[in-house]
Amino acid sequence: MCGIVGGVAERSITNILIEGLKRLEYRGYDSAGVALVGQGQILRERRVGKVVNLESAVTEAQILGSLGIAHTRWATHGKPTENNAHPHVSDQVAVVHNGIIENYQELKQDLIALGYHFSSETDSEVVAHLITEALKSGAPLLQAVEQIVPKLKGAFALGIVHSDYPDELIAVREGSPLVIGVGIGENFISSDQLALLPVTNRFMYLEEGDIALLTREKIEVFVQGQLVERPVKELDATVTNTSKGNYKHYMLKEIHEQPEAIQQTLSQALNGNALREDFLKDAVIDFNQIQQIQIIACGTSYHAGMIAKYWFEQLIDLPCQVEIASEFRYRSPVIVDRTLYICISQSGETADTLAALRDTQKRAAAKHLMISTLTICNVATSSMVRETNHHLLTLAGPEIGVASTKAFTTQLTALMLLVLKIGQVKQTLADSVLAEIAADLWHLPKVILAALQKDASILGLSELFVEKNHCLFLGRGTEFPIALEGALKLKEISYIHAEGYAAGELKHGPLALVDNDMPVVILAPKDDMLDKLKSNMEEVQARGGELFVFADENSGIQSQDRQHVVKIPSVSNWLAPIVYSIPVQLLSYHVAVLRGTDVDQPRNLAKSVTVE
Ligand code: AGP
Repeated sequence: MCGIVGGVAERSITNILIEGLKRLEYRGYDSAGVALVGQGQILRERRVGKVVNLESAVTEAQILGSLGIAHTRWATHGKPTENNAHPHVSDQVAVVHNGIIENYQELKQDLIALGYHFSSETDSEVVAHLITEALKSGAPLLQAVEQIVPKLKGAFALGIVHSDYPDELIAVREGSPLVIGVGIGENFISSDQLALLPVTNRFMYLEEGDIALLTREKIEVFVQGQLVERPVKELDATVTNTSKGNYKHYMLKEIHEQPEAIQQTLSQALNGNALREDFLKDAVIDFNQIQQIQIIACGTSYHAGMIAKYWFEQLIDLPCQVEIASEFRYRSPVIVDRTLYICISQSGETADTLAALRDTQKRAAAKHLMISTLTICNVATSSMVRETNHHLLTLAGPEIGVASTKAFTTQLTALMLLVLKIGQVKQTLADSVLAEIAADLWHLPKVILAALQKDASILGLSELFVEKNHCLFLGRGTEFPIALEGALKLKEISYIHAEGYAAGELKHGPLALVDNDMPVVILAPKDDMLDKLKSNMEEVQARGGELFVFADENSGIQSQDRQHVVKIPSVSNWLAPIVYSIPVQLLSYHVAVLRGTDVDQPRNLAKSVTVE
């Protein structure tokens, strides 16, 4: 949700900022802007649309500078116009902002009363004017920033420069991610370290409430005016591979990376057909005590949680609730003693999930309840990983496409590993069952690879969706969340309206939608529910619906008139949802490409939803 990049160096950083913005574009892409300090003034360019538009403008204007900030926007307050694009300037101050200033209206009224003119509809512009006002007292820039930050309510990250301070970049983190890239004789800031990988692999992770002063030679971090230490961490090369390679889109690359990504997830936990001794060993005491699970997540991560509920309850007899974080956080749910709260999040920064976690921790502490928290996440340095008692990394590598693919299947893999671990600790899972599932998990990357080889058949089917306006996805058991996920994938990247349903619900309403023009996607692994699912397929056919069936190769389901079948390699029932994710991802991808949408950056969306 908006991307910030900034730097202070000896050399001109214009190209570094533009390259950084391109890497951050997944966070928002409705407008972009840059402000550089040069010849004692702020040089600013902003453009509506993608970063390439800004790049052309900057090249034409030939603006150069060794101190600057840049921003790619996902509009919250005010339309995606040039005036609303960041950086916002007030006199000699330029500011970029990620997050939301909740009390901006109030602050704006006060500033207007003081004679300030607002040129945008954003909440962010107040920050620039507040700093200008604070500077009038004669305070130096850093102090002026320290004075105004407590006036801001909400969640935000800020990058600030001033034309009279040509060697100072100020960064503020208060609820939105911000990282410092440590260079040699130059230093940088960004919402995501990915943006800075071309210039450094050394990072300092700011904490909530930190205000940092960066110059070419030093980085100082303050909390309420006191200097604090933040360690510098070095990233290894495997984390840094972010190119599209030979693939047309990041999403396609990430779909094909799944066998390897799942292998990585497994390697940290399994030793042959047993769990490694060191896997989640610090959590054993907590796992012993817990009596139930509460999963909190959003979007695709929520679907992963829905599947885990079947596993926790059926495999290890542990009650499990799953809830969308944006609901959980506001309904004052009862916090139950001896509950393990699990946050699932690719980014580890999703605002609703993070807020739900913090609220739960606060309320549990107030009542002296014994709860434990665990994050399943793809970003080791994220807020959720830092703020929970335990974490389990998915190790999928960076996921750039807005539509989540490899993050989802590795979340499922990690969740199954967690189920095995808790079952082992609580002795509710027989060793033989654990060994059997572990063996199936080791085999999983090969099954995924075989499923990926169905690509050509799925591409063929996708042509039949291009002209459609609606689509239904149906599944039972753990395939029900896959039906929801398939529908989410299709709508988010192809803009076709799609609904996912538990197939048993069909006759309770959605069957009314079925006619000759309604494609119905069926997820049909060979499990106990297969016969019931076949009856649901007949109900659709009887109403003239066209079936697109992803069916186990031994299910006996064959292609026939208005029934197109893609045979999916056989897999154990427990792992079927991971394998059936592949055809729905490929279907959505191909339909989107044929419809000519922006697959990696679909309209109105952003990869990391760090605002409400
Ligand atoms: C799905 O394709 C989306 N990218 C979205 O639903 C996503 O899963 C959701 O915003 C949660 O993100 P998180 O996993 O980073 O918390």
